[in-house]
Amino acid sequence: MALLDAKTDLSDRASLQRGAGLFMNYCSGCHSLEFMRYDRMGRDLGLSDAQVLENLVFSGGKVGDEMRTALRREDAKEWFGVAPPDLSVIARARGPDWLYSYLLTFYQDPNPARPFGVNNLVFSGVGMPHVLWSLQGIQSLEKGERPAGARLEHAVRLEATKEGVNLHNIVQDESGAESRVVDRLVVSAPGSLGVGPFRSAARDIVNFLTYVGEPAKLVRYRIGFWVLAYLGFFIVLSYVLYREYWKDVH
Ligand code: HEC
Repeated sequence: MALLDAKTDLSDRASLQRGAGLFMNYCSGCHSLEFMRYDRMGRDLGLSDAQVLENLVFSGGKVGDEMRTALRREDAKEWFGVAPPDLSVIARARGPDWLYSYLLTFYQDPNPARPFGVNNLVFSGVGMPHVLWSLQGIQSLEKGERPAGARLEHAVRLEATKEGVNLHNIVQDESGAESRVVDRLVVSAPGSLGVGPFRSAARDIVNFLTYVGEPAKLVRYRIGFWVLAYLGFFIVLSYVLYREYWKDVH
């Protein structure tokens, strides 16, 4: 299925900082980032140790600690049926677009088998509650009308719209003829953020998790900038020299 485009940008430091803040507030209660330490994150994102301690360390830990959740695995298993996985390399495992689509497509599901009353378009039967509901609000799934006797169907594409997210399905009727049916996710009870601002918040979280999955990328970015600046400087210099040498020849 084609996913939503996360449009992450590791050079956007403000977005990475906001993503870190959102992660610590909304995710770190259950998920750890064991491969990352607070002070390393602070340095990479341009925050001092004091800023990190004051704004991002909620567990009472030290700034040199690994970013572990205070949640005990055994408790988590009991409450959620599965322990929330460590998210250090989730952006590499699932990809930024999947993460972004995941955060945007929680919806209300009245099926009594759903423990938290929600489901997700890219993670069917998910064991995680919709933790960002106070920001996003509650989404409901409005199913498009299927042709009579429709049987086989598969989801082909997610599409971001003004109101929410559309899910395009290819549906086969009895004769085997295919048609496209669109299901819609719409916000039925608004949260504190509108559709657009909520998407930016989700993008910030995904951006942050992409950085956590490969922190060396940021270093490469910085080195890349200086290499290009250096090359640019030499291009200009050699052009000036070239002009100088050939001035008298013509
Ligand atoms: C209340 C606890 C809780 C909070 C808070 C929470 N999660 Fe989860 N999360 C879970 C559980 C439990 C699972 C396992 C779901 C499953 O496997 O069915 C999960 C699964 C996930 C997965 C899927 C991992 C996979 O299997 O590929 C991602 C991604 C994820 N969470 C991201 C987040 C992000 C981002 C936040 C913060 C916005 C967050 N979670 C907040 C409990 C939580």
